[in-house]
Amino acid sequence: MTTDVPIIPDLSALSAQLRKDDQAFRRSFALGRFGDEVDVVVDGGIRPAVAVAGGRGEDVRARFLALVEGRTGIEIGGSVTERVDRLLASMPAAALPGWLSALEQEPAEGSAWESLIDLLTVHETYFFRDPDQLEFLRRSVLPGMIAARKTDSQARLAAWCAGCSSGEEVYTLAMLIVEALRDAGEAEVRGDGRILIQPRWRVSVLGTDIDRGVLRQAQAGCYPDFPMGPFRSLPEGWAGYFEHAPAAPHAGPPVRLVRPEIRALTTFLPHNLATADPPNLDLCLILCRNVLIYLSDRARHHAQALFHRALSRDGALALGPTDVLRRPELFQPQWGASTVLYRKK
Ligand SMILES: C[S@@+](CC[C@H](N)C(=O)[O-])C[C@H]1O[C@@H](n2cnc3c(N)ncnc32)[C@H](O)[C@@H]1O
Repeated sequence: MTTDVPIIPDLSALSAQLRKDDQAFRRSFALGRFGDEVDVVVDGGIRPAVAVAGGRGEDVRARFLALVEGRTGIEIGGSVTERVDRLLASMPAAALPGWLSALEQEPAEGSAWESLIDLLTVHETYFFRDPDQLEFLRRSVLPGMIAARKTDSQARLAAWCAGCSSGEEVYTLAMLIVEALRDAGEAEVRGDGRILIQPRWRVSVLGTDIDRGVLRQAQAGCYPDFPMGPFRSLPEGWAGYFEHAPAAPHAGPPVRLVRPEIRALTTFLPHNLATADPPNLDLCLILCRNVLIYLSDRARHHAQALFHRALSRDGALALGPTDVLRRPELFQPQWGASTVLYRKK
C-alpha cells in the first residue's frame, strides 16, 4: 500500500489518541514500526500510511531524540518510548523531513512543540505526595524560616515548584506554609473556613512546567474527586482548604475547588528547566520532585545550578525520592527520619 496522506498528521489529535492508549488504536498501531503499514490520525479520522522505512527511519529516530533532548532536556524512556515510536511510525515518510525542520527551527516554547511536549511528558501528581518529606518541611524547616523573618516589616516566604504538572503540588505547598504560619501564631483559619495571614507576610508559591496544557489545568484550581485521584493522600484535616463546586449537569465525580485565599498565594508560568534562567530569586524553598528522573544528565546539571542560584542563603531544595543530587558541591543534605532535603551551600 502507498500512502495517500500528503500532509503532516494532526499532531494534537494524534497525541490525545496515543495518550488514551485505547485498545482499538493500539491494535491499529500493533505493526507500527519503521517500514510497516500503519494508520494515522488526520483531521480526527484514521487513514492508512506507510511508516518511515528501515535504516533511514532509525536515523530519523536518532535525530528526533537528540532534538528533544536539546530543546527540553527530556531523555525518552519507560512508557514514553512506546508513545514516541508509535508517533514516528505513524508519520508519512514524505512529511517527516518538513516536520523535523519545523521543530528544529523553533524553541520548545514555540507552537510546533506544544502538543508534542504533551506526548513526551508524564504528569502523574496528587495532593500531599510524599507526606514524610512534607511533614519534615512543616515541622523542621519552615519554623526556622518563619522565625528568621518574623520581625521583618515585610516578611517574605517565596517558594517555587518546578515541574508542577496540574498544580496539586503548588497548592499543597501553599497550604503547608499556611499550616506552618498557624503553628507559629502568624495565621488563623476561622470557623467558616476563611484563612487570615498576618498582613506583614508576603507568601507566594510559583508553579512552573514546560507543558502549557497542564498549567491551564493548574490555574483553574479545580479537581475531580475519585478513588486514587488527586485527593488520595490528602490529610483529613485539610478538607477545609477546598470548596465543593456546584454539581455538574452531567454525571461525573464531584469536583473540589481550591479555596480562593490559597489560590491567591499562587502563580503559574511556563518554564523550561533544561534551558532557562531561574524565574525568581531569593526563594526559601524549591520543590522539584519526580521531574529530574525524566531528564538527561546535562539537563539535571543545568537545573540544579538554577536551583542554587534561585535559593536564598537559608533556602532548601526538595527532590523526589528517586532523584539523585548531581551537584553535591552546591548543596548540603539535611536528613530527616525517612527523608532528605538539600540546603544551599
Ligand atoms: C511526574 S510530573 C511531577 C509533578 C510533581 N512535581 C509531583 O511530584 O507530583 C513531571 C512534570 O515535569 C514536567 N517537565 C518535564 N520536563 C520539564 C522541563 N524541561 N522543564 C520543566 N518541566 C518539565 C512535565 O511536564 C510534568 O508535568
